[in-house]
Amino acid sequence: MKKVILSGSTATGDLTIGNYIGAIGNWKNLQTEYDCFYMVADLHALTVKQDPKVLRERRLSFFAQYIALGLDPEKNTLFMQSDVHQHAELSWVLTCLTPMGFLNRMTQFKDKSAQHAKNINAGLYTYPILMAADILLYRADLVPVGEDQKQHLELCRDIVGFFDHNYGEGILKLPEPYIGKQGARIMSLQDPTRKMSKSDENPKSFVSILDPLKKIQKKIKGAVTDSGSEIIFNPEVNPGISNLITIYSSFSGKAISQIEKEYAGKMYGHLKVDLADLVCATLDPVQKKYNELMNDQSALVQFMSAGALAASERAQKTLNDVYCAVGIR
Ligand code: TRP
Repeated sequence: MKKVILSGSTATGDLTIGNYIGAIGNWKNLQTEYDCFYMVADLHALTVKQDPKVLRERRLSFFAQYIALGLDPEKNTLFMQSDVHQHAELSWVLTCLTPMGFLNRMTQFKDKSAQHAKNINAGLYTYPILMAADILLYRADLVPVGEDQKQHLELCRDIVGFFDHNYGEGILKLPEPYIGKQGARIMSLQDPTRKMSKSDENPKSFVSILDPLKKIQKKIKGAVTDSGSEIIFNPEVNPGISNLITIYSSFSGKAISQIEKEYAGKMYGHLKVDLADLVCATLDPVQKKYNELMNDQSALVQFMSAGALAASERAQKTLNDVYCAVGIR
């Protein structure tokens, strides 16, 4: 029996090369060895104000990008979170088990409520419980998550503890974080001390998967670099050029030390020009595949309903067990 993996990306902003290098690219590497469930977290998107029209398009677009970036719908269960009603149902049961004190500790809630001061809704607060439901429904063994989501995974593990204590062990599975081989963290092109974010207000700070190639060229060449001039990887001292080296390494598969060697004595501009070409060459076929999927959506719709069916089947089993355990079946 293969181990189960679950992960997802919230359907907000544009998927960026940071999401590819830090998440979706890793998911792709796991797709043969594990039983993988990858979802578009569209319910999570509602925690911040959304234009319904934009969200409707974006959820579809994310799903198509997953496939275009190499997630094979035959090898993985790819689905839309809201297509599987069990997520919301399990989330409620878990909400009734989670002490508010545990949610008060979440650093992301503190950050996000500062950021969205006019819309601090209860969903923003309980969001990590929905995330726990996502994971627990599939009895996931491993959850690939970035640094910023580790605290949520910890909460998920605490929730399993509360559940076990109240209703007995073995009904929910305790998940572990999955730490990828290279935990590359891609930083903003405008402020390399901050993580590249798909929801950043300044579009120059990220390269999105669907950016026109000309724009990608511009963004990379316009990336903020440091006052030094040597192409040496040292995020503490040269965060800007180090970030570009990381991206170069991820897209080319070359070791950082090899890149440093190849660019010894060259200027920042040389690396920027080559990196821009490399990123464009990588994303060009992805964009072509994406356009194919979006122009004739019949295949996309088919993949989506097959994924929803497979995911619901698995999820319903867990939900039945949980409903029985808590006494509403
Ligand atoms: N909260 C995650 C993010 O913002 C997305 C997410 C939702 C997720 N549910 C999940 C990630 C379950 C891993 C597992 O990036």
